[in-house]
Amino acid sequence: MSESGRVLVTGGTGNTGRRVAALLAAAGHPVRAVSRRPEGGPAGVAGFETGRFDWDDTATHAPVLEGVGRLYLVPPTAAPDPAAHLIPFLDRARRAGVERVVLLASSAIAETDGGLGEVYGAIRERFAQWAVLQPSWFMQNFTGDHPHAHGVRAYDEIVTAAGDGRIAFVDADDIAEVGARALTDEHPHNTAHLITGPRALSYADVAEVISRVAGRPVRHRAVSGATMRDRLASTGMPVRFAELLAGMDEAIAAGAEDRTSPAVERVTGRAPRSFADFAAAHADAWRR
Ligand SMILES: NC(=O)c1ccc[n+]([C@@H]2O[C@H](COP(=O)([O-])OP(=O)(O)OC[C@H]3O[C@@H](n4cnc5c(N)ncnc54)[C@H](OP(=O)(O)O)[C@@H]3O)[C@@H](O)[C@H]2O)c1
Repeated sequence: MSESGRVLVTGGTGNTGRRVAALLAAAGHPVRAVSRRPEGGPAGVAGFETGRFDWDDTATHAPVLEGVGRLYLVPPTAAPDPAAHLIPFLDRARRAGVERVVLLASSAIAETDGGLGEVYGAIRERFAQWAVLQPSWFMQNFTGDHPHAHGVRAYDEIVTAAGDGRIAFVDADDIAEVGARALTDEHPHNTAHLITGPRALSYADVAEVISRVAGRPVRHRAVSGATMRDRLASTGMPVRFAELLAGMDEAIAAGAEDRTSPAVERVTGRAPRSFADFAAAHADAWRR
């Protein structure tokens, strides 16, 4: 694939970008992983480079596209109008010779929605080779510095406005593997992949699994959408984004995410990881 150029990965230090970049590099594809604070790539892997890229600093946009043939596009997180960043960048990418684009989107965003939804059509209009990844909520939201992980460590609780609604949480490793295939398979996928884990779980179900692994009771505390919005905004999150996330919780409560999809198995040939398996491998995340 090197004859079709380097693969540019935006969000190259994030949950999926880091994993996509590592998978591609391990398979011998030249990769450029970029973000505001790029980290070193896997040691001793030829063809892996990093670069500085900031959605808010357009001077960083042209240099990272040099020599690039394919693009894994992680949108700017928490931007009120992602299309305003992404569409000019897609135009620049096309002029720079990019042929294939794989967009990381979300199961919660339909093409008919504004914001990121607008970008799906913009990609199809500009590129003959494309894929849109629509993952469900990430299992990684319960690890690292995510507020849910902090809530479990500090207060033995997960707080949401999702009520008893269920979500088919998915491992970022599975999303990345679908993304890497969409970038490198000989035939472009030219489709949107709804990507989920194997089973839809409520936050109470998740708390039960974490309780078993952590060895102490952890509970789900259901709050109203307005309380959730205020909690998120009080952490410094822009109010519009806090409202959007709280609204997504309310949609979950109403059943919007209670579904599974065969995409991981169809694209990778193996079943997606279960939350029980993920939790068993991440017990350290909930140690106080
Ligand atoms: N978490 C979920 O459950 C979930 C579910 C479905 C879809 N998604 C989607 O997945 C995407 C990523 O979410 P995530 O929470 O997993 O985040 P993430 O990918 O772990 O982190 C965001 C990445 O973007 C980079 N970044 C942030 N602001 C940037 C900027 N202004 N310019 C350039 N790079 C920037 C960050 O690196 P630097 O800080 O170094 O710049 C990091 O590499 C979001 O678009 C989200 O909507 C998430």
